[in-house]
Amino acid sequence: MTVTIMGATGHLGGLVVGALLARGQSASEIIAVGRDESRLVALGALGVSARRADYDAPESVDDAVAGADTVLLISATDVGRRFAQHRAVIDAAQRAGVTRLVYTSVVNAGTATTILAAEHRQTEEYLRSAGLEYVVLRNGWYHENFTDQIPGYLERGIVGSGGAGRISGAARADYADAAAAVLTGPWPGSRTFELGGPAYTLTDVAAEISQQTGDEVRYVDLPAEVYQGILESAGLAAPVAAMLADEDVGLASGALFVDGTDLGDLIGRPPTTLAHAVAQAVAGGGHAR
Ligand SMILES: NC(=O)c1ccc[n+]([C@@H]2O[C@H](COP(=O)([O-])OP(=O)(O)OC[C@H]3O[C@@H](n4cnc5c(N)ncnc54)[C@H](OP(=O)(O)O)[C@@H]3O)[C@@H](O)[C@H]2O)c1
Repeated sequence: MTVTIMGATGHLGGLVVGALLARGQSASEIIAVGRDESRLVALGALGVSARRADYDAPESVDDAVAGADTVLLISATDVGRRFAQHRAVIDAAQRAGVTRLVYTSVVNAGTATTILAAEHRQTEEYLRSAGLEYVVLRNGWYHENFTDQIPGYLERGIVGSGGAGRISGAARADYADAAAAVLTGPWPGSRTFELGGPAYTLTDVAAEISQQTGDEVRYVDLPAEVYQGILESAGLAAPVAAMLADEDVGLASGALFVDGTDLGDLIGRPPTTLAHAVAQAVAGGGHAR
């Protein structure tokens, strides 16, 4: 059963390829797709087939999905253009006679009112009406969204508008393993999984980093328009700053909270805790006390 990974050159996609191999999928039955030639060469060195495609060039997508039984579509990055790009991949998969498509969405995509959730919801609706068998993996927040920023947090603290909203975060590697479990395991039928780990707040993130580094980091909650202004003055484009502030408003009202065990059930172990992710980042970045 040949599996094609769209977005394999990204962080999550690379981990999915590794998780597929770890779960016994033969390298000769993995097709890794992305735009970045150098990363495709690195993936090819693992023995998998590497193909270049850009969702904005439909013929390249047709070539990429040719011969696949199952396609994993990892959501793309161009916010505002993603639905059209995802639709291009779903259409190409149908033309190629692909049986199953697995899509990485975002938690609570069915109900969240955030800017980020809208294109995921559109993609899910399109996929459900397309006639392919599908699995939607609604991924929660990555711990790495926070752990990658530890040096900045140690300098400036954490600001945001997430209030006491709870984040059911997990490591990218957990979500990658969940995708690999679906792609290699018994097909669960067309269904949607809400994936996340034990919940924490932004105040908990600050406390965990403080505890593990010995330097006090505080979380300061701000009105969304003030937070957006800070992001813009830090150099972010206005639409990106608006989207991040909007995501925090969603966080405050529960958009990133998952009350379920889908992730642990799929991967067969508890998801990585925030404490573990911070410990790894602190050890790797030399921030330990
Ligand atoms: N849950 C979370 O916390 C969270 C956080 C951030 C993002 N996300 C979402 O999750 C996805 C995966 O996360 P990630 O960390 O792996 O992101 P990433 O490292 O940026 O990977 C995104 C992948 O999508 C590919 N891609 C984007 N636009 C494309 C296009 N037009 N044609 C072909 N390929 C395209 C990229 O190719 P290139 O390498 O050529 O760019 C890359 O392989 C993201 O794309 C985003 O939708 C989730």
